[in-house]
Amino acid sequence: MNRRQLLATLGLSAAGIALQGMAQAATRPPLPQPKPLDAGAVLTAGKARLPFATGTSGGYGYNGQCPGPLISVRKGQEFRLTVANAMQEDTTFHWHGLLAPPEADGQPQFPVLPGTTQDICFPVTQRAGLSWYHPHPHGATARQAWHGLGGFFVIRDDEEDALGLPSGPAELFLTLRDAEFDGLGALLYPYLANGTEGSVPLVNGVAWPRANLPDRQIRLRILNAANARVFRLSCDAPMTLIGNDGGLLEAPVAVTEVQMGPAERIDLILDLRGIAPGRTIGLRDAAFEQSLLDIAVHRGAPDDWDLPARLSTIEKLRHDGDAPDRTFVFENSSTINGQPFDPRRIDFAVPFGRVERWRFTSARGAPHPIHVHGTHFQVIQRQGGDRPRVEPWERGWKDTVLKWAPEQIDVLVRFDAHEGRYLMHCHKLEHEDGGMMLNFVTGRDPEAALEKARLEALYGPICSPG
Ligand code: C2O
Ligand code: CU
Ligand code: CU
Repeated sequence: MNRRQLLATLGLSAAGIALQGMAQAATRPPLPQPKPLDAGAVLTAGKARLPFATGTSGGYGYNGQCPGPLISVRKGQEFRLTVANAMQEDTTFHWHGLLAPPEADGQPQFPVLPGTTQDICFPVTQRAGLSWYHPHPHGATARQAWHGLGGFFVIRDDEEDALGLPSGPAELFLTLRDAEFDGLGALLYPYLANGTEGSVPLVNGVAWPRANLPDRQIRLRILNAANARVFRLSCDAPMTLIGNDGGLLEAPVAVTEVQMGPAERIDLILDLRGIAPGRTIGLRDAAFEQSLLDIAVHRGAPDDWDLPARLSTIEKLRHDGDAPDRTFVFENSSTINGQPFDPRRIDFAVPFGRVERWRFTSARGAPHPIHVHGTHFQVIQRQGGDRPRVEPWERGWKDTVLKWAPEQIDVLVRFDAHEGRYLMHCHKLEHEDGGMMLNFVTGRDPEAALEKARLEALYGPICSPG
């Protein structure tokens, strides 16, 4: 098989092959890092000429960037931001992984209309971790995200600071996604109801980039911002997992491969101390022959920092018995429990503060990266598939879990941040838009909360006294 045939069997397009050629050359473009959002700046979703789109169609970006500006806050702060929509269509700003009250959560029920702004304000009460923001408009999330909308939202706290983790230039943020281009390099969106994948992987919006790093320990904070692609990452240097969606794990775990479904995040320490300066290694994905990111290693200052054996303490959620409180069947590309999403339908009420056991099952259309708004959960059991275990990157606090067919996954979940209406959905974005999503509420008085939410879904907000 020659090279071209090989690439063709890998499913690469003509533009993909041209870009793949670039990956082999010594001339890989430098890896950009997201720029921090300036204090007081507005976050605007709008048209952008993105690094990956060389044609005329361009894409969308936040403040013209893909990934968008890096938002960073400290635990205990109030998060305040004005967001603006400079696009010709509705959008929303969802803070994925953040415990935001429903009205600030960027749900499709609160669109930001073209030419308008919204003021966001909520206290950040959760521990340090890597969240992100992206659009969540009704029926158009997949298209807007594919065209470039997405950015990092990082929370810092004292517990994390005390560990002395690699920081500054030794902390890298990587957004992984994929794209498709026409022969002239313009971005295409080849919509597929069962999830769109592109033949060109992008790291921070750039195809086949290169990073120059010292022979030290590097903290990599990785987000899968793809619409549907699952990444299976490996590297030529030792990787130690230290965190995921909801922040630090209790203890570091050495890993040789990490699997990331859409919306999942991982935090890891890449140890370049054993790599001879002058060598170039790769951060690889199982689906691509060339590395996603080349890392050219140079001699740096000596690094004698030791990764602590213990990172954090995580409360273990407890629940009596093995029977699930609720079971959700994710089927094909558009239903949960046989029903497609209806913005006016609220399916159930969860008692605020109570631990419930939820079971996710399905037979068709998988993998489904299942995401719950308004909380983090703990994965306790995975059965029925090839890997009947909770993976190291699924320990601790999660907000999205990747479910393969025909697996059954059980999680323990508790809502204790904000009462009100939230969403659960598949984060394969074409599934989400296709209807694999539902509304629920959580409240101290669940029945009253459900009644209120159902009335509001029909008639609009009801002011409650007090
Ligand atoms: Cu990242 Cu409801 O989404
Ligand atoms: Cu979310
Ligand atoms: Cu799905």
